[in-house]
Amino acid sequence: MTNIKGKVALITGASSGIGAAAALKLAAAGVKVGIAARRVDRLGALKAEVTKGGGEALVLEMDVVDPASVAAGVKKLAGAYGSVDILCNNAGVMPLSDVDQLQTSEWHQMVDVNVKGLLNTTAAVLPHMIEQHSGHICNVSSIAGRKVFKGLSVYCATKHAVAAFSDGLRMEVGQKHNIRVTCIQPGAVRTELYAHITDAGYRQQMEDLAQQMKFLEGSDIGDTLLFALQAPAHVNVAELFVLPTEQGW
Ligand SMILES: NC(=O)c1ccc[n+]([C@@H]2O[C@H](COP(=O)([O-])OP(=O)(O)OC[C@H]3O[C@@H](n4cnc5c(N)ncnc54)[C@H](OP(=O)(O)O)[C@@H]3O)[C@@H](O)[C@H]2O)c1
Repeated sequence: MTNIKGKVALITGASSGIGAAAALKLAAAGVKVGIAARRVDRLGALKAEVTKGGGEALVLEMDVVDPASVAAGVKKLAGAYGSVDILCNNAGVMPLSDVDQLQTSEWHQMVDVNVKGLLNTTAAVLPHMIEQHSGHICNVSSIAGRKVFKGLSVYCATKHAVAAFSDGLRMEVGQKHNIRVTCIQPGAVRTELYAHITDAGYRQQMEDLAQQMKFLEGSDIGDTLLFALQAPAHVNVAELFVLPTEQGW
């Protein structure tokens, strides 16, 4: 097993849901976590929770869409802890609607956060990993990165992009730089993701879904992340497709 105690991680989208749960899991395993998002009040509360559990966390106000904000956050993290060993690219948005509704600003937001944001953080962290000739990048894609669903056309496009980029990145940096790349593809997880859907019909559909089955918790994906990180150094867990048992699609 890879011992991750003392390693330094950057977790994006750590202010809620999967990112916050992953931060707690990693911190409990002895990882120093750089917790990044725009809502710093939430990050402050998470830091307090990490500290209470005996862990170490650094709050990073970061908009992943803005390369300068990302670079500043990574610089602060590396400055505080000396390195960045793990990157969990988790920040994402899912404002669903049918394409014929032409919600173009929401399409752009999904591309900007889910794809360009992930590229921005990867670009900022990669030089640190290349320099130390080790690292692990975990990208949170989705079941929507494997299949396409009605109403999720643009979201699916972004999550397919994350899956494709992850596999290409793995091929390019594994052998050359000793950096592992994992793509995590969750099914339905109980988080705030659906609360931001502006289309009333789709928001209701997602709320109904939550009544029909037991969703995964963010902590389940935190455990998935730990599994990949703690695999022996010669093992690259490239993809993890994790679903609620009751999810029949
Ligand atoms: N929930 C599910 O069913 C599910 C299933 C498969 C995959 N996923 C993926 O899991 C990831 C986490 O989502 P979640 O379900 O945990 O939802 P969530 O609770 O809504 O969390 C989304 C996170 O992304 C952050 N974020 C959004 N825009 C950002 C920006 N411009 N810059 C920095 N951070 C930003 C948010 O922080 P701030 O608003 O504070 O910036 C928040 O912390 C996403 O990539 C999502 O697509 C979720």
